[in-house]
Amino acid sequence: MNWDQVWIDVNVATMDASSSLPYGAIENAAIAVKDGKVAWIGPRADLPQFDALATPIYRGKGKWITPGLIDAHTHLVFAGSRANEFEMRLQGASYEDIARAGGGIISTVKACREADEETLFDLGRKRLNTLAKEGVTTVEIKSGYGLDTETELKLLRVAKALGQHHHIDVKTTFLGAHAIPAEYKTQPDAYVDLVINDMLPQVIQHKLADAVDVFCEGIAFNLEQTERVLIAAKNAGLAIKLHAEQLSNIGGSELAARLNALSVDHIEHLDEAGVKALSESGTCAVLLPGAYYFLRETKLPPIELLRQYKVPMVIASDFNPGSSPICSTKLMLNMACTLFRLTPEEALKGMTLNAAKALGIEKSVGSLVVGKQADFCLWDISSPAELAYTFGVNPCEQVIKAGKIIQQ
Ligand code: NIG
Ligand code: FE
Repeated sequence: MNWDQVWIDVNVATMDASSSLPYGAIENAAIAVKDGKVAWIGPRADLPQFDALATPIYRGKGKWITPGLIDAHTHLVFAGSRANEFEMRLQGASYEDIARAGGGIISTVKACREADEETLFDLGRKRLNTLAKEGVTTVEIKSGYGLDTETELKLLRVAKALGQHHHIDVKTTFLGAHAIPAEYKTQPDAYVDLVINDMLPQVIQHKLADAVDVFCEGIAFNLEQTERVLIAAKNAGLAIKLHAEQLSNIGGSELAARLNALSVDHIEHLDEAGVKALSESGTCAVLLPGAYYFLRETKLPPIELLRQYKVPMVIASDFNPGSSPICSTKLMLNMACTLFRLTPEEALKGMTLNAAKALGIEKSVGSLVVGKQADFCLWDISSPAELAYTFGVNPCEQVIKAGKIIQQ
């Protein structure tokens, strides 16, 4: 066998969907990498003969390997801080009160319109570095803090550039319909026209987005407006996603399911009809425990129904300055278990295989099987549940992206 590298003395949580074992685990395993892909994986005892003198061999000393983590929902390109709103909320104002008074998303919009691309790039790069240290190899980044054509395109260009200059793969999502900007407060439909007729064509022309998202909510876009944006995106061949049922239930998830969206995100207020619709369309449920925690929500997403209807559950950071200023995958795994009562295995699946599904890239990443990209992490843990169990210690020892060791 002519391989580029081989890992031995490791236990692997493959997250392989076809395995009947928890975590798809293979204890005392080996992984061989060739041309950036997994070329062989299985019990060490079955490893075929290879040229051990010509092949770099890494010994994991009994530690665990998992697929590289995928953060499938972030807004990590932003400028400014909303610590003042944090203080306001501690004095009794709600997230909705602040948004309706012209703060919230709109205050980050102001900061992003003023920031130049270099500043935004630098801020984004630091945040990617933080995620990378905790094992992230793929991240989704949304626009949505521009709300005018120029700034929306700027944010997407920065997100794309981050993907080109960082080893983390970046998938970009156009979220022009994130909030109604002050200039359009009295004519929201005209803003939706702008998103569809001016922003979207340019996003497509410059290949700036893999998907389109809308914030479907009482304080943002109604069902009809949401549908117009999603249909325009679909007609242009882009994947679609939705911020839905975060603060109330206005039926966004059912709409998204009918349009075959990749995912609906937040969904604390989702009901059984919505869950059923997701299961029929194969749409993923992206759970965002950071926003639930930070906004001190009390309505839990319908986890038991999602399990019952076998809707793929995803865990993401939603990293943003307003509802989830939290740049940690480890904390999200922990909160998915402590707040949402997911099992550590469900949580890890939500940041690997199911996260890949939510981005439409599950054929190439998300689990460790032959033929998929060799994106994985070596963790100094004695069982995979430890990834969700601890927080504040970082057991990530090595990150491998497409077969290249990019961190150790
Ligand atoms: O995912 N819900 C809408 N959008 C973001 C929050 C953005 C903000 O408050 O800046 C979210 O929670
Ligand atoms: Fe979000």
